[in-house]
Amino acid sequence: MYNIDIMTKPVILTGIRANSDLTIGNYFGAILPIIDMAKKRSNEYQINMFIPDLHSFTTPIDHSRLYSQSTNNAKLFVAAGLPIDNSNIYLYRQSYIPAHSELTVILDCFTGFGEMSRMIQFKDKSNTIGADRTSIGLFNYPILMASDILLYNAKYVPVGDDQSQHLEFTRDIAQRMNSKFGNLFVVPEAVKDQHEFFGKDQGLRIMDLVDPTSKMSKSDDSGRGVIFLNDDPAVAAKKVMGATTDDLAKINFDRDNQPGVSNLLEILSLLQGVTLQSVVDQYTGQTSYGDFKSVVAGEVEKFLTDFHKKLAEVDAKAVMVKLEQSEHDLKPIANATLLRAQQAIGLR
Ligand code: TRP
Repeated sequence: MYNIDIMTKPVILTGIRANSDLTIGNYFGAILPIIDMAKKRSNEYQINMFIPDLHSFTTPIDHSRLYSQSTNNAKLFVAAGLPIDNSNIYLYRQSYIPAHSELTVILDCFTGFGEMSRMIQFKDKSNTIGADRTSIGLFNYPILMASDILLYNAKYVPVGDDQSQHLEFTRDIAQRMNSKFGNLFVVPEAVKDQHEFFGKDQGLRIMDLVDPTSKMSKSDDSGRGVIFLNDDPAVAAKKVMGATTDDLAKINFDRDNQPGVSNLLEILSLLQGVTLQSVVDQYTGQTSYGDFKSVVAGEVEKFLTDFHKKLAEVDAKAVMVKLEQSEHDLKPIANATLLRAQQAIGLR
């Protein structure tokens, strides 16, 4: 029987992808809530936040930008309020801890081809990019993700709905290994218990400005409907002015019939830090979309200007020290889990 060295505090773990530029949708929908959660929970929990840089090229990317994007994302978390002087919060890069790759190769051999073929994200993405550009890395994505989680004995993993199936797989593979080899891995909580623990998000979804029926996505090609955190503030304001609305000529929060206007109301409430209801109350019935867009555009411009200022003030050296310190501190923990697996399967 193998003894799991549970650390003194239960672990909350999450990764934020770094393959392309982050949007205000990522900021308000993922980064800010995660940072808030980290600050709130870091007394009772160990918080592992990492940049899954090995996942970043499971679909084709511009490799000349990968390194700078990963390090920039770390700075961005700090600009968004992540306290790097908190020793219960770890911030690290996946590829700097080799155990992620090593455990993945092991788990590969206990994972069925069929079960990976059924992964929704794999099916969607491989459909979009086409069979001949679909890599084995994309197929393998959930197994690497399981390693990310299991290496640190994580109990809680806040993930969006699109990642729930991967979390369920993580539980499956952990249980499968545990029943075959003894107590190797901590099994993370089930998705529904995760939602209970974190409080299911309020359905916050920022939509694309040009096509307000689809999510504002960092992987959108044209970029016209997407506000990136590194957009020039004036350019971003123009994108808002060009946002798709409707011809009803009356402001109303109605996602089905007025998705564009509703999205702008939502964005405005986030930028102003007030409830959606209060923004809706203020603007419902107004007839000038132009005036309304100018208000939103102004707020976007102000937000980005502020954010860029904060980002410029982040101490890049301190962020690098934080990354290296976290990687140094976590390596032994990851390696201990890896060793348990290696011993169990007969490699050690
Ligand atoms: N797949 C996650 C996403 O696309 C990122 C990720 C990679 C992750 N490994 C993880 C999230 C482990 C949580 C735990 O958002």
